[in-house]
Amino acid sequence: MKKEVVAIDGPSGAGKSTVAKLVAGKLGYFYLNTGAMYRAVALYLNRKGKTPDDVITEDDLKGIDLDFDNDGNIFLNGENVSEKILSPDISKLASDFSKLPVVRKVLTDQQRKIGLKKPSVLEGRDIGTVVFPDAKYKFFLDATPEERAKRRYLQLKEKNPDLGVSFEEILKQQLERDRQDSSRDIAPLKKADDAIYIDTTGMEIEDVVKKILEFIKG
Ligand code: DC
Repeated sequence: MKKEVVAIDGPSGAGKSTVAKLVAGKLGYFYLNTGAMYRAVALYLNRKGKTPDDVITEDDLKGIDLDFDNDGNIFLNGENVSEKILSPDISKLASDFSKLPVVRKVLTDQQRKIGLKKPSVLEGRDIGTVVFPDAKYKFFLDATPEERAKRRYLQLKEKNPDLGVSFEEILKQQLERDRQDSSRDIAPLKKADDAIYIDTTGMEIEDVVKKILEFIKG
């Protein structure tokens, strides 16, 4: 039987987080931002002095407790790290650490456990292909690289008006991250064959949400 899961995958800046959160709210489902989990793990390992070139074991990840609230905040061992994990440095490290099999295994297990507990909307890169290949609904959100970088730049600028990074730099980092996320061996960023593709370039968030809910409600 298909799982009561809405899988929303796509590259960074495609609008996944905002859309997934709104869709979950409308359906009364739990919202899980799996990218935030990879980011929180990167923050944790970085604080421990680990780099993506080190050998990381399951033991290294044992001290990580991730928790979530209904507003989409993520807590790393009790600390709300939702803002800290959005920095360009952590974005790069999250992509780097997410290539490691042990990191993927631990987080994929946690995501499945959470998604099976209650009806959920999960967003990420490999939800429809690996985490929940039997999800009832699958969507793949995309947009042009320039539009995606613009959204990420404005999001960062809104949180930190003194942001010392240019739009061009964000675009460059994003292209590199997309290349890395799509070309890794395990669970690469990829549209599931049965996912509905939505190009969100030039679309309002509400219209993307509406389109997804139309598919779900039939
Ligand atoms: O969605 P995001 O930009 O916050 O994700 C940060 C990084 O985490 C992304 O570059 C790749 C990784 N990630 C992943 O490998 N698998 C997921 N399901 C979600 C994110």
